[in-house]
Amino acid sequence: MPILIITVLHYPIMASSAAAADRAALVKAFDESRTGVRGLVESGVTTVPEIFRHPDPYASLPLAPPGVSIPVVDLSLPSPAADAARDWGFFYLVNHHAMLPADFPGRLLAAVRAFNELPAPERAAHYGRAVVGGGGVSYSSNVDLYRSGAASWRDTVQIMFGPSRPDEGRIPACCRAEVLEWDARAAAVARAVMALLCEGLGLGAAALEEASCLEGKMMVCHYYPVCPEPERTMGIVPHTDPGVLTVLAQDGVGGLQVKHTTEDGESYWVDAKPLPGALLINVGDLLQIMSNDKYKSVEHRVVMNSHEDARVSSAIFFNPGKRGDSVFYGPLPELVSSDNPPKYRNFTMSEFFGAFFKRDLASKALIEHFKI
Ligand SMILES: *[C@@H]1O[C@H](CO)[C@@H](O)[C@H](O)[C@H]1NC(C)=O
Repeated sequence: MPILIITVLHYPIMASSAAAADRAALVKAFDESRTGVRGLVESGVTTVPEIFRHPDPYASLPLAPPGVSIPVVDLSLPSPAADAARDWGFFYLVNHHAMLPADFPGRLLAAVRAFNELPAPERAAHYGRAVVGGGGVSYSSNVDLYRSGAASWRDTVQIMFGPSRPDEGRIPACCRAEVLEWDARAAAVARAVMALLCEGLGLGAAALEEASCLEGKMMVCHYYPVCPEPERTMGIVPHTDPGVLTVLAQDGVGGLQVKHTTEDGESYWVDAKPLPGALLINVGDLLQIMSNDKYKSVEHRVVMNSHEDARVSSAIFFNPGKRGDSVFYGPLPELVSSDNPPKYRNFTMSEFFGAFFKRDLASKALIEHFKI
């Protein structure tokens, strides 16, 4: 399943097994509270608890110089989507109003916020880590809580919308209608963007759809509470998305940053500042592979903010829905030639997700696994 499982590679080795056991006990106690990071904030914490502390959260790269911004793709104009996917791997999408009414991402994000701000016992009733066992729905804090070296400051509702549908009755009632509407509307957006990206590869507009890339869908709704010590922790550590394409809605709080490398080889983090009415689209590892590196899956992260308000966002990860052992994915055959040999080998989705769950997923480790 295309869940963001993220491991911090640079976490120092535990000083002793006693320290590791202490940490494991703290992690378990936190999980068993069933109320997430929001619950810590409600209980009045004034410092970031040890299990959430990242050794040096913001050291890796400088911030972009002023004025640098990720590109905007305007669906009402001849589209530079393919250029944006090649040069940035990430772009804002605007003027998509035929697919998404102007009030829509706002209504969705308000409903997700309302769920996360329910009284603790009501949230706790939904808490659990099993997505499949939970009818395709789960609410928990840190999907990789037991695997990562340091927990992050966020709580998440995950809903698997494809290839099989979730048990809709398991979706929290206060955001159910909005979440179902988002699933349908984001699919229309993804179809339109995939068509543009196919055309940019010289393929028929439906090539990715025919490869079942609209059929595998995982939705995540994230809630990042206000943090008492924002410099000590992170919202999400740097990672790439494993799937084909991600469609993201974020509220006005901000904190998302995208790694960009210029033609001169200089890299920095660019703030994906909230742009009213815009969605964000990004290329995942599978699309980088299928496009034989024409499109780039880039790292992104969420830094803590010191705003008064929690950040709320929701992403849908689109993946191939065909998962059989005789269905192979790799660079699209139409794109490879003797001049442009395949850069990746073919694999099944079960091999792909197997590698995804097994490996350290910081940076581009997953994609390296399939390189020829
Ligand atoms: C991957 O499979 C396709 C057929 O779908 C084939 O044309 C291609 O040569 C295979 N690629 C590699 C690297 O084996």
